Amino acid sequence: MINKIHSLGGYIHEYQKSIANPEAFWTQQAECFFWRKRWDKVFDWNFDEPNIQWFVNGKLNITENIFERNLYTHGNQEAIIWEPNDPNDETRTLTYSELYQEVNKFANTLKRLGVGKGDRVAIYMPMVPELAIAVLACARIGAIHSVVFAGFSANALQERINDATAKVLLTADGGFRGDKITPLKKIADEALESCPTIETVVVLKRTNSEVDMVVGRDIWWHKAIDGQSDTCPAEEMDSEDPLFILYTSGSTGKPKGIVHTTGGYMVYTAYSFSNVFQYHVDDVYFCTADIGWITGHSYIVYGPLLAGAKTLMFEGVPTWPNAGRFWDIVAKHKVNQFYTAPTAIRALLAKGNDFLEEKKLQSLKVLGTVGEPINEEAWHWYHDHVGLNRCPIVDTWWQTETGGIMISPLAGITPTKPSFATLPLPGIQPIIMNGDGKELTGNSVEGNLCIKFPWPGIARTIWNDHQRFKDTYFSTYNKMYFTGDGVKRDEDGYYRILGRVDDVINVSGHRLGTAEIENAINEHPLVNESAVVGYPHAIKGQGIYAFVVCGELSTGGEEGIRKSIMQGVTKIIGPIARPDLVQLVPGLPKTRSGKIMRRILRKVAEGDATNLGDITTLLDEDVVDKIIDGALVDV
Ligand code: PRX
Repeated sequence: MINKIHSLGGYIHEYQKSIANPEAFWTQQAECFFWRKRWDKVFDWNFDEPNIQWFVNGKLNITENIFERNLYTHGNQEAIIWEPNDPNDETRTLTYSELYQEVNKFANTLKRLGVGKGDRVAIYMPMVPELAIAVLACARIGAIHSVVFAGFSANALQERINDATAKVLLTADGGFRGDKITPLKKIADEALESCPTIETVVVLKRTNSEVDMVVGRDIWWHKAIDGQSDTCPAEEMDSEDPLFILYTSGSTGKPKGIVHTTGGYMVYTAYSFSNVFQYHVDDVYFCTADIGWITGHSYIVYGPLLAGAKTLMFEGVPTWPNAGRFWDIVAKHKVNQFYTAPTAIRALLAKGNDFLEEKKLQSLKVLGTVGEPINEEAWHWYHDHVGLNRCPIVDTWWQTETGGIMISPLAGITPTKPSFATLPLPGIQPIIMNGDGKELTGNSVEGNLCIKFPWPGIARTIWNDHQRFKDTYFSTYNKMYFTGDGVKRDEDGYYRILGRVDDVINVSGHRLGTAEIENAINEHPLVNESAVVGYPHAIKGQGIYAFVVCGELSTGGEEGIRKSIMQGVTKIIGPIARPDLVQLVPGLPKTRSGKIMRRILRKVAEGDATNLGDITTLLDEDVVDKIIDGALVDV
C-alpha cells in the first residue's frame, strides 16, 4: 500500500516532515515498494553538474512492483479498461493477471528480436492496450522505451528514432481517431527511409489498412508473439538505470530527449497518483491523455498500475461521434476520477450543455486538469456542470521534466480556488525568482518558478546532451531547477501558474518550441525568414501566429503561400504545430544586432499595439507600422 494523506492537517504535517527531513520522508514512501536490494543512500545530488540520484544502489524492476507486488491481492481485478474509438465496438478489459501474461509474452518477443537491457525501443502506436503492454514489456527486460505521439509526422518520428538510436520500432497498420484513420505504418515507412539503427519493425493489426511489409525487417505483432511464453523473469535494474526517453520541445529547434530513471520515478508517480486523486480500491480512474505524452506515461500507465488501480484507456477523441463521448464513457464504466486538459474542457463547453446529462455523471468524485492554465470560465463550467457542484477539481501543475505532479490540490483535502494549482506536494520546494536572480519571499509576489531541492521524479538528463540539460534548467538561476513558467503566489500562499516565460508555447496542452515551428516554415522554398509567437485562442489556450518574410510570391498569391506554409509545417512536424495565422510581412522587427524583438510581435498577435515599449533600438521602425497594418487580428 502507498501512504495516503487524509486531511488538511495530515497534508501540512507530511509537508513539513518532507522539508525538515527529506531522507526520512522518502524512505517511508520507498519502503512501500519491493526492492531486490535496498538502497544505500536516499539521495545524492548537486544542481551544478547537475548530478541527481535517488535510492542510490537500490535494485528493482518497476514491473515487479506493478505485478508481483499486486497479484495476490489484485490479480483478478481489472488493470486496464479499454474503450475503443467506435462506441459500438467492444470494450476490452485486462485484469492484472492477464496484463501480466501479455506483458511477459511481449517481453519474450522483444528478447527474441535481440532487444536487451539498455537498448532503445521506439513506439509509434495508437491508444490500444498493446501500447501499454509494449511500454511495460520494455520495462520488464530493461529496454528503454521512447514513445512518439502518433500524431507526429514522418520527419519528427525519424528525428526521434535517430537521436535515440533505437533498434526496434513498434507500430500499427493504422490508428482510429474519430472518423479518421492515421496511416501509421505508411508514415513509419517514410521515416525509416533514413533510420539506420532500426533492425526490426513490429506491426500491430488495428485498422486492417493495406500496408507494405518489408521482408527481413517487418513482422506482424500477432505472428511475433505466437508461441511465446507468458512468463518472463524481470531484469534487475539499478534505481538510476534509464526507464524511458520522452521527447519534448524547448527553446531551440531540436526536441529534447528527457530521460527518466527507474527507482525515483516509480516512487514519485505512485505516491502523487494516490494522493492527488485520492484513489480508493475499486474506483475507476480515467485519464484522457495519450500515452505519447508524459501525462499518459505517469498517469495512465505507471502511477495507476503501481497503485493497483483500474485505469481506463480511451482510443478516440472527445467530440466523436458527438461531444457527449466522454460523458458516455463516464456513465458506461462508472468513472470516479476523471483527468483531462483545459483545451478539451473549453471545446466541450463551446458545444453547450445538451450533452451533459446529470444521470451520466453521478459516479464522478474527482475532476482533474493538466497541461496549461485553466481559465476561470472553463474551471466553473467543469466544476458546476461536469462535477455537479460536488467534485473537487485538482488543477495539477507539472512538466515532462518533473515526471509527476508538483503543485496541486489533494482531492477533497486542499481547499481549491479557480485557476490555482494551490500548494506543492510533499517534498516539493517551489521558489519564485525575479529577473535579477533574487528570490521573492512572502506572499503576493509574481516571478519565475524554480524548485530548489530535488524530488524523486525529476529528469536526470537529456539523452546524449547533458550540457543542454544543465544549460536549460540549471543555469538561469544558481543551484535551482528553472521550470520556464511564470507564477504568482497570492495572499494565501496559493500558486497560480501564468504560463511560459520562454520561447515555448502551449497549444491545446501540447508544448511546442517556436524555433521548431520556424525551422519548419523556413524549409518552404519561398520563405526567407519567420518568427512565431503564441496568441490567445478561445479553445486551444494559445494559437500559433507566424510572421513570415517571403522573397517573392508564387502564382497562388498570398493565400496560396499561406496555405502551403501551413501544409509544410503539418508535414514536417505534424498537425498539432500547424500555424493558425500566417501573416506575410515585409520584414521582422530586429535590433541593430540582428535579434528579433519578439515582444513586439507578441503584442501585435495579442491585438494590442498600444504599448509596444521602447522600439528605438530597432534597425527599422517602419516595419512595425507595416506589421500592425497587415495584422490578422484586430489591433
Ligand atoms: O507551462 C506549463 C504547462 O505545461 C508545461 C509542461 O508541458 P509538458 O512538459 O508537455 O507537460 C504537460 C503535462 C504535464 C508547463 O511548463 N502546464 C502544465 N500543467 C499546468 C500548466 N500550466 C498551468 N496549469 C497547469 N496545471
